[in-house]
Amino acid sequence: MQEIFDKANSVLEEIKTTVAENAEQAEQFRIKYLGTKGILKDLFGAMAQLPGEHKKEYGQLMNTLKASAEAKLEELKLNFDSGKSSSKEIPDLTAPGYDIPLGSRHPLSIVRNKIISIFSRIGFVVAEGPEIEDDWHNFTALNTPQDHPARDMQDTFFLTENKNLMLRTHTSSVQIRKMESEKPPLRYIFPGRVYRNETISARAHCTFHQVEGLYIDEHVSFADLKQTMYYFAQEMFGKNVETRFRPSFFPFTEPSAEMDISCFVCGGKGCPVCKHSGWVEIGGCGMVDPSVLENCKLDPKKYSGFAFGMGIERITMLKYQINDLRLFFENDIRFLKQFSAAD
Ligand code: PHE
Repeated sequence: MQEIFDKANSVLEEIKTTVAENAEQAEQFRIKYLGTKGILKDLFGAMAQLPGEHKKEYGQLMNTLKASAEAKLEELKLNFDSGKSSSKEIPDLTAPGYDIPLGSRHPLSIVRNKIISIFSRIGFVVAEGPEIEDDWHNFTALNTPQDHPARDMQDTFFLTENKNLMLRTHTSSVQIRKMESEKPPLRYIFPGRVYRNETISARAHCTFHQVEGLYIDEHVSFADLKQTMYYFAQEMFGKNVETRFRPSFFPFTEPSAEMDISCFVCGGKGCPVCKHSGWVEIGGCGMVDPSVLENCKLDPKKYSGFAFGMGIERITMLKYQINDLRLFFENDIRFLKQFSAAD
């Protein structure tokens, strides 16, 4: 008789110490102890053989046993209902929350913002214009002759409904809009997206970004242009950088120049970034052509000015040594996350 009490007590102990690793083990527990052929059923059955005076005590023990088994089953099931993989893993309610991963700015935005901040320190203000332009603002007012190759279908996306409208090929169109609508002094930069009918490759894309600049006032000279560009190059690429201006041609500037900076990677000694020349090209610039001022009803005898333009992609590629332009537009997170969120 003592045996049956001992057995019941050891089952009680077993039940209390049971753990389950998964929902299936919790179910096995139920079958083993509480099932129709389970241990508890057997133990209850044993009551019949007990002498009368022990029945009450045994009955109480059995009630405890059953209640413990049922409570344990609930506990085991609860662990898995809440998605836990082990009953040992009780959630720590005081634990700090999970980090929300921070995004980072697109490299083109980082560089555009830097360019804007550099020029704003010397008084240039951001101005924007439409991406769909008319012939006057994109070409004619900028002194671009009717037979200029840029006007060719091969180079420019014209709108099919209206051949007088196109996706702007440069942000110089915004220069015209500002000169038409405001009186000098004008000191603006024009960041924005532009479009050209180019085959997409590692070095060219049909859409890219520019920052152009315009400064119009009395007595503005080429020396002002050079100093402004020199200041920009130093702020953007470091104090040791040198600049050089090569004669060039744009329909809307006279004289025109192409600006190079000494290669900031090798310091001018020659490396793959500067193709061993020691210099890298940054953008075009020049003195605003008097006929462009006239087109905007500004008196070229009174006013003069300079303009410049550069590609944001190009500067970003140089700055971060990125060798494929297409990376900017693919939005591959592995590429984008390499640029610091703090920039
Ligand atoms: N608009 C020219 C281009 O897109 C750049 C430029 C701007 C050149 C201003 C000179 C002056 O290539």
